Amino acid sequence: MPELKARFAELFGSTPELVAQAPGRVNLVGEHVDFLDGFVLPFAIEDVTTVAIARTVQPTIRIASLQQTDEIFVVQMKDLAPMTGEAWTRYPIGVIWAMRDSLDFRGGFDILIDGKVPLGAGLSSSAALECAIATALNHLFNLNISEPVLARIAQKGENVYVGMPCGIMDQSVSIMGRKGSALLLDCRDLSTEHIPFNISPLGLELLVIDTQVHHALVDGGYAERRASCEKAVAVLGITSLRDISVADFVARKSELDETTYIRAFHGVTEMKRVLDGVAALKAGDYKEFGQIITASHISLRDNYTVSCPELNVAVDTALSLGALGSRMIGGGYGGSAIALIRADQTENMKKAIASAFAAAGFISPRFFTSLPSDGAQIVK
Ligand code: GLA
Repeated sequence: MPELKARFAELFGSTPELVAQAPGRVNLVGEHVDFLDGFVLPFAIEDVTTVAIARTVQPTIRIASLQQTDEIFVVQMKDLAPMTGEAWTRYPIGVIWAMRDSLDFRGGFDILIDGKVPLGAGLSSSAALECAIATALNHLFNLNISEPVLARIAQKGENVYVGMPCGIMDQSVSIMGRKGSALLLDCRDLSTEHIPFNISPLGLELLVIDTQVHHALVDGGYAERRASCEKAVAVLGITSLRDISVADFVARKSELDETTYIRAFHGVTEMKRVLDGVAALKAGDYKEFGQIITASHISLRDNYTVSCPELNVAVDTALSLGALGSRMIGGGYGGSAIALIRADQTENMKKAIASAFAAAGFISPRFFTSLPSDGAQIVK
């Protein structure tokens, strides 16, 4: 933090008005259902993105990052337009753009970013950045925007300004996550329930395996699968895949083409897995919970087809060594997998997964462990 402020002064010649932070996330279960009005169960991780911000008289946004070169990106407020600008700067600028009507402000901003959420690991470093900016602006202008609305604003920045048709999970948990709990989020109305996920005293650990790969087609594949699920909703004449039971959905199989059916089948069953998973956690049945998250992986791999060989090797190796459950998380085609394991297995598990990657000719994975942490906040 002192480093961030000192660097801010060096770059912009002033002191930040405030510093805000927001975390990345892992998702325990509920994948690719947030844009379907579904239920999801993510938690905020310890790694955060921190932003220092100050208003300026000039109507110009200047942005720099401790993780990038010393370059300062400059854009005029009047030139803000979706899908323009240097790729990574679209995330923070998109949030300013999405909030522009609330800001009632003629000047600009100086922003310095310190992103500690691993990039490209599928841990939603982008939502962390968006939510840190949204939280900073909310406080800077005393807007009193509620947490769910702030999450929607951050999502709008990503949907429209960045051009990624993501759902609402990552931004919601980055803002509303709470230490010690996973967030049961109803993506239809953004109502929440904090579900205690305090696994350390039970001798358990959540290992995050970052495959360090990011296969092409990620964004196109995401949008295409989302469109398949929306097509199923339209053809079946329902308001959402959320509003049909698994049995009723299966009974109407003949109304859908094969691809549409199998992708939407993932959605319908995944929503049920979230609710079953919450029931297992409330009952303290981590064995059952582990089986549910593994079932989620199998569906993402075989029905929704967004896994990849690296994720599958990570999951299969973890399960073969006795993990209670394991699955890919996030958008897929790379990024991270999680494994719910006994804490005393951690070192063996890491070694075995690293060896399996080497044997398959994959690049070395990275490992993290993480516990549920607090959502976005002002740190100064
Ligand atoms: C990405 C998106 C989220 C969600 C997940 C898949 O992380 O940003 O909105 O759809 O993929 O569950």
